[in-house]
Amino acid sequence: MSAMTAMTAISAPARPARPGIHIEGLAVGYGSGAAVIEGLALDIEAGSFFTLLGPSGCGKTTLLRTIAGFVAARAGRIRFGPRDVTAVPPHRRDIGMVFQDYALFPDKTVFDHVAYGLRARGRDAASIARQAGVALERVGLSALGQRHPAALSGGQRQRVALARALVIEPQVLLMDEPLSNLDAKLRLQVRQTIAELQAEAGITTVFVTHDQDEALALSHRIGVMNHGRLEQVGTPAEIYRRPASGYVADFVGAANLLPVTLGEGVAAGGTTQVPLAGTRIAAVAPAALSAGAALLMARPESLVLAPPAAPGAKGAPAIAARVLRRQYLGEKTSYRVALDRGEELQVDCHGPAHDVHRVGDVAMLAFDPAATLVLAR
Ligand SMILES: Nc1ncnc2c1ncn2[C@@H]1O[C@H](COP(=O)(O)OP(=O)(O)O)[C@@H](O)[C@H]1O
Ligand SMILES: [Mg+2]
Repeated sequence: MSAMTAMTAISAPARPARPGIHIEGLAVGYGSGAAVIEGLALDIEAGSFFTLLGPSGCGKTTLLRTIAGFVAARAGRIRFGPRDVTAVPPHRRDIGMVFQDYALFPDKTVFDHVAYGLRARGRDAASIARQAGVALERVGLSALGQRHPAALSGGQRQRVALARALVIEPQVLLMDEPLSNLDAKLRLQVRQTIAELQAEAGITTVFVTHDQDEALALSHRIGVMNHGRLEQVGTPAEIYRRPASGYVADFVGAANLLPVTLGEGVAAGGTTQVPLAGTRIAAVAPAALSAGAALLMARPESLVLAPPAAPGAKGAPAIAARVLRRQYLGEKTSYRVALDRGEELQVDCHGPAHDVHRVGDVAMLAFDPAATLVLAR
């Protein structure tokens, strides 16, 4: 080996590998019970922040714990990069974990929590002090190394858990609802810390939450789960703007979902005409859509409510809508309106005159053709 190569090897130790996570044909269940997860496939890009989002009981924790190795797969494979970890025990998978309840030891100091993983790996005292110090500094706890958990706030406890998970430079970071026990203000602060640490370390991260705002704010990609299945996987904007189903549209953000019946000649994969309230409105249709029962989806903020004399938005035909309720919210007014045949929608108006409509008024409702979807029912 040349002197130059040896120098490089010493001065710039290779960063730990940041593998992607690849899951195929995964089935998981408890005891002899029915499968909680079945036929699940998922690819998480190396170095990315991936969120599993879904309501309580849909299988998020089960999937995360299977990735960690605490729950065995009944079928299928899990790989970290090229390495098949399906049969590897948790302590050999090279993961860091953060839990909702912090999982700290009452009799250990903050420093000892963070040093623990380094000691277990047989590092010398000087490197332990240095690396634990860096980790505590990154989570803003340098001054609190000698405290015990009882003398910390919830946000500080979760920062200890974060430092403990990251100090060992794991290949994969797994977090199960780490912000759920924090009050609203702390939740935002620790959320920011998590985003910064993940971006800085570029560590492949799987984050579990039932909170759509957290998922949208933090993730490169989101997997929306429903009863042990991944209903849709995509970027936050794809999930929000192009939900693949009524379930996703309703779970992520507010959505008006109206049952409609499509005639023959649906322009699947393009813009199609959807009959509604005696007229037809343009909506984006997925590639696999055929005639028959469907759902029309429009976000409340994509709808325009105009006084009867005004033309519809962007020349789209407008439908008469009666204002049933209104809620003035400062930056917007949220209206409940009814169409001729009783269909009800929520319309959120922004802009300088957002509060002009009164209960009982008939206004003209227009749909934005680029933001209105038709989905399979
Ligand atoms: N240890 C367990 N034993 C038996 N069933 C479990 C266990 N943990 C979770 N389950 C069941 O698995 C399903 C998914 O639960 P979980 O993965 O905890 O969902 P989530 O994290 O999305 O709330 C639920 O029906 C739950 O009752
Ligand atoms: Mg859970």
